[in-house]
Amino acid sequence: MAENKPAAVENAYASSHVNPYGRVDEEVAMVAEKDGRRKKRMKCFMYVAAFVVFQAGIILIFALTVMKVKTPKFRVQSASFGTFDVTTLNTNPSFDINMIAELGVKNTNFGRYKYQNSTIEFYYENIKVGEASIPNARAKARSTRKFNVTVNLSSAEVPREVLERQFAASTVISLSSQSILRGKVEIMKIMKKNKSTNMNCTMEINTSSRQLGNLSCR
Ligand SMILES: *[C@@H]1O[C@H](CO)[C@@H](O)[C@H](O)[C@H]1NC(C)=O
Ligand SMILES: *[C@@H]1O[C@H](CO)[C@@H](O)[C@H](O)[C@H]1NC(C)=O
Ligand SMILES: *[C@@H]1O[C@H](CO)[C@@H](O)[C@H](O)[C@H]1NC(C)=O
Ligand SMILES: *[C@@H]1O[C@H](CO)[C@@H](O)[C@H](O)[C@H]1NC(C)=O
Ligand SMILES: *[C@@H]1O[C@H](CO)[C@@H](O)[C@H](O)[C@H]1NC(C)=O
Ligand SMILES: *[C@@H]1O[C@H](CO)[C@@H](O)[C@H](O)[C@H]1NC(C)=O
Ligand SMILES: *[C@@H]1O[C@H](CO)[C@@H](O)[C@H](O)[C@H]1NC(C)=O
Repeated sequence: MAENKPAAVENAYASSHVNPYGRVDEEVAMVAEKDGRRKKRMKCFMYVAAFVVFQAGIILIFALTVMKVKTPKFRVQSASFGTFDVTTLNTNPSFDINMIAELGVKNTNFGRYKYQNSTIEFYYENIKVGEASIPNARAKARSTRKFNVTVNLSSAEVPREVLERQFAASTVISLSSQSILRGKVEIMKIMKKNKSTNMNCTMEINTSSRQLGNLSCR
């Protein structure tokens, strides 16, 4: 048994020497095998690379859409009126209007927007004629949160000349509203970003129809 092994080795040695073509065949086979393995590795690498590129693309698209934090929009949506005392006569021009304004916080983010207490101010000819407080709340992901605020619009602070001049030209009361909401957008509980949004709207109260019109927000 012990003598068999060296004999087999010698045999193999001898046969490869005896037949030189066998050795060439072996070498060719080895090179072919190496080549095949390299090709396989290359293919595998290509698959991994393609997957990485694909994954990076998905992440990029995700980052540019879902994770992108957009500024919510805050605007006056509509209004209705309670007490409506308006005198357009130039003997004693004045207005005292109770307005119920519907405000909207439009949140287009894929996460909720939590905002803090704030105030909204209404101006007539750059003079503040009313304000209301805005309670803190949250606007759900991809939705508009609507709520009402009640404000008393009073011409008490407006100089008489200004009212006379305005009412002589038109019986429409032109107002602007301003507000800032401060809060944060939370996307999937992992991303939180402070975002504040400004309201800057103009509107007109038609004193004969008692309706709000020409509402436009920047
Ligand atoms: C928000 O307003 C409420 C009541 O109006 C008040 O109690 C609270 O302290 C305010 N919070 C902040 C952060 O201003
Ligand atoms: C706001 O008030 C108006 C009527 O005054 C009502 O029709 C509307 O539903 C209210 N909006 C909200 C969000 O409560
Ligand atoms: C508006 O005015 C009415 C009466 O003048 C008063 O009862 C009400 O509390 C006022 N509302 C606000 C929000 O100031
Ligand atoms: C976000 O706002 C909160 C409260 O307004 C503040 O405490 C915090 O420092 C702000 N964070 C950043 C990153 O600005
Ligand atoms: C509001 O918008 C008007 C133009 O529409 C602009 O002149 C004004 O400066 C804006 N105000 C604020 C506080 O952004
Ligand atoms: C106010 O409303 C009345 C009735 O709807 C309408 O006839 C009038 O043209 C309006 N005024 C303005 C300035 O839009
Ligand atoms: C809106 O504004 C235009 C021009 O400023 C005016 O002609 C129109 O009557 C206004 N409409 C309302 C409903 O106030």
